[in-house]
Amino acid sequence: MVVNTPLNKLYVEDCIAFMRRLPHSCIDVIVTSPPYNIGKDYSEYEDNKTREQYLDWMEQVAVESKRVLRPAGSFFLNVGGKPSDLAIPYDVENRFRKHYCLQNDIVWVKSIAITKEDVGKGNGLKKDFSVGHYKPIQGKRFLNNCHESIFHFTKECKTELDKLSLGVPYQDKTNIARWSNKKDKRDRGDLWFIPYETIKERRPHPAVFPKKLPLMCIKLHGVREDLIVYDPFMGIGTTALACIDLGVNYLGTEIDKNYVAFANERIREEKAQLKL
Ligand SMILES: C[S@@+](CC[C@H](N)C(=O)[O-])C[C@H]1O[C@@H](n2cnc3c(N)ncnc32)[C@H](O)[C@@H]1O
Repeated sequence: MVVNTPLNKLYVEDCIAFMRRLPHSCIDVIVTSPPYNIGKDYSEYEDNKTREQYLDWMEQVAVESKRVLRPAGSFFLNVGGKPSDLAIPYDVENRFRKHYCLQNDIVWVKSIAITKEDVGKGNGLKKDFSVGHYKPIQGKRFLNNCHESIFHFTKECKTELDKLSLGVPYQDKTNIARWSNKKDKRDRGDLWFIPYETIKERRPHPAVFPKKLPLMCIKLHGVREDLIVYDPFMGIGTTALACIDLGVNYLGTEIDKNYVAFANERIREEKAQLKL
């Protein structure tokens, strides 16, 4: 089906209402991070529903998105919890799985510590190593929360992916000859280290993901010139920036007009940087 609304545009609109206007099977990839229901200080949206209300709402997103997604489409859902409520992503995943198949369970690693001893002598690590940012947790009960989930849902778990677009070199080079493509590239797996970007200016949004996150999801699904990517909870436009970098089409919805205005400013800057 062909999309019945102009592409490469952000809409100030409720995502469910927007999806209900779309024809079925018209979107290739959905990448998004919804509110987590943890009381984030968004300027318009109130992030404090009851658990049941929140999960019912997320399930509605699952139902409407499944209708608009193409048969071999991908839905990448980034959700996190908080130390005192770590089950949020799993509860959301459960509701989505009533309608979708969980094809991949990707972990977004925000920070990691690796010791020289664990890596072994041959790998050139000179000292213990720690990289990335996280919010430090006080008190004795909870560990610093250094990861979030990226659930990859598809209609039937049969969607073929471009795994080597995110490929990494083999550690043991004898593997190159062993595999049919004879390239020094292997599937990187489902643990993705993506640090938060260091930014100079203050952003008017409390919960932005790094551009590399939607970028990796779209690449994994497979880039095509006519690909259509939709982010129902577009925030300040990070998914749109990833689409511009990859040369694919985007659609986004966001209920807060100030976030959309800021997103459009970021889109202008991204295009100027890329001389588009
Ligand atoms: C976690 S943020 C997304 C941030 C985004 N990934 C980025 O990098 O800018 C969730 C966003 O969903 C928006 N939102 C809440 N309810 C919505 C709805 N019904 N339809 C569309 N957007 C909504 C909020 O205003 C908030 O900006």
